[in-house]
Amino acid sequence: MKLITSYRGRGTEVGDEPMVLSFPSAPAGTPREGCRRRIVKASGLRLALQLAIAVVVFATAAGGAATKALAFSSHELAAKIAYCQDCHGPAGQGYRGFYPMPRLAGQQVEYFEDQLRAFVEGRRLNSIMSPVARSLSPAMMTALATDFRAFNPRPLGGDRRELAAMGEKIFQDGVPEQNVPACAACHGPEATGIKQIPRLSGQLYLYMVKTLTNFRKDRKEHLSDVMYPVVESLNKRQIEAVAAYVSSLR
Ligand code: HEC
Ligand code: HEC
Repeated sequence: MKLITSYRGRGTEVGDEPMVLSFPSAPAGTPREGCRRRIVKASGLRLALQLAIAVVVFATAAGGAATKALAFSSHELAAKIAYCQDCHGPAGQGYRGFYPMPRLAGQQVEYFEDQLRAFVEGRRLNSIMSPVARSLSPAMMTALATDFRAFNPRPLGGDRRELAAMGEKIFQDGVPEQNVPACAACHGPEATGIKQIPRLSGQLYLYMVKTLTNFRKDRKEHLSDVMYPVVESLNKRQIEAVAAYVSSLR
């Protein structure tokens, strides 16, 4: 493994010792001087103030043969997180705006990264998120997915509580007479998701309703053949019920 540092954007290899620098997720704007000092000391390098701290992301390719090291500065990462928080909320809890901003907190890393790639590749269509996603390198996508996974705010919840019991039944048992499988079978009994299957617990009610209603319009077939039959068979009230149920789950 190699430690890569970048000085004014240029990558320089400084050693072969395994070394992983990790930063605790900090709110936007938090000074990282303590962090900076430790790293400067640890690496034994004389680094000028403008030195961008390297964030080393080791991505092991499938098969485990190749290991890639990719670098960007912690300043860049903090700036990106702050940018995401502008829309998705300070703890990634989502935001009930004119346009519902989905909760990102606690989301599965694989699903999160795949959706960002989908916005870039046009497999998922959204005029707000596509330009945002295009500004991210693959290493940055992984770092952001990992950071937002660690956030754990309370769900905004609170919408349409009267429908939650009906929603719970659909989520846990499906609707056999309409050929709707149990959502829990894939998304998990607590709606926490797994890998490419998204977490739904705590997701915004309005975002859930919008997403389930527009699945075919917003996402291209190969992305979610599994979800189409499910959503096509649900009626409006059933969509609202299942959204009400998951939106208040922790
Ligand atoms: C200008 C507002 C805005 C900014 C800034 C923004 N997003 Fe989004 N994001 C949205 C909206 C709106 C959606 C919902 C898109 C849709 O309805 O399909 C979304 C959706 C997403 C999704 C898909 C969520 C899901 O559950 O499927 C991910 C992942 C995401 N954003 C990550 C990010 C990251 C990472 C950043 C920061 C680099 C970011 N967003 C910055 C508005 C924004
Ligand atoms: C056979 C497995 C499966 C079943 C059953 C299933 N889902 Fe999904 N669901 C998925 C997968 C996979 C995705 C990710 C699709 C993608 O990548 O676009 C998904 C995505 C979603 C999303 C989009 C999440 C987001 O953040 O944008 C919602 C909402 C959703 N499912 C709700 C449901 C509900 C409600 C049910 C039950 C009525 C259900 N799903 C049943 C596999 C399943």
